[in-house]
Amino acid sequence: MSPCMPHELNTPPAPSVLAELRAGTHTLHVALEQRLPFFSDSLDLPFYRRLLAAYFGFYQAIEHELQRSASIPPGFDLHARLKAPALEQDLQALGINPKALALCPMLPALNSQARVLGVLYVLEGATLGGNVLRKHVAEHLALEAHNGCAFLYIYGEATGRNWKSFMDFLSAVPLDAQARNAAVEAACSTFSCFEQWLERQEVLL
Ligand code: HEM
Repeated sequence: MSPCMPHELNTPPAPSVLAELRAGTHTLHVALEQRLPFFSDSLDLPFYRRLLAAYFGFYQAIEHELQRSASIPPGFDLHARLKAPALEQDLQALGINPKALALCPMLPALNSQARVLGVLYVLEGATLGGNVLRKHVAEHLALEAHNGCAFLYIYGEATGRNWKSFMDFLSAVPLDAQARNAAVEAACSTFSCFEQWLERQEVLL
């Protein structure tokens, strides 16, 4: 007799947190991608500088909160994945003092490991589009990592590898259905806080 009972055969596997994060944020990603001006004809150097300044205002604020959070899952190397320092370097290369910039006041709550993972999913996933954006910015504005485009190529050749290790990390954290919902909610909140901030900074199409 087969060791599998019929009800086991008919039960679909529980969706992974990654699948839930992807499904839950897909619409928000598409909406934000369409409003970002990277591929717009209006993206000249002054606009790019304003855009990066707005990015810095968000990343600096959220990474500051992440560094203060008591809910970073054990084993996650937050320091190695900080992106505000690259933005700071870009701004300095473009003649902007990052210390004088406004920081985003409205951020997702980071009060559980699940919520932190949802936020990190968005910040890590955002590096995947960076390579396409970097090439475009290099061609149209003649900017490379040393003169204003380090952020868009933050992990360089290691982009795919870092994303894979993040996905492995994410799937190894045990999360029940309630925690998975919290992760998706935090990821959605990250997208909307970022979009609202960029909107307020008048850098969206
Ligand atoms: C014009 C701007 C953007 C472009 C062109 C873009 C493009 C992409 C591309 C090509 C991928 C990889 C898809 C794949 O390999 O399956 C991706 C994934 C992702 N992007 Fe973006 N992106 C942009 C902006 C953003 C922003 C601003 C965020 C968040 C702050 C973001 C968050 C993500 C996330 C979380 C993923 C991972 C999806 C997954 O595989 O689970 N993206 N993006």
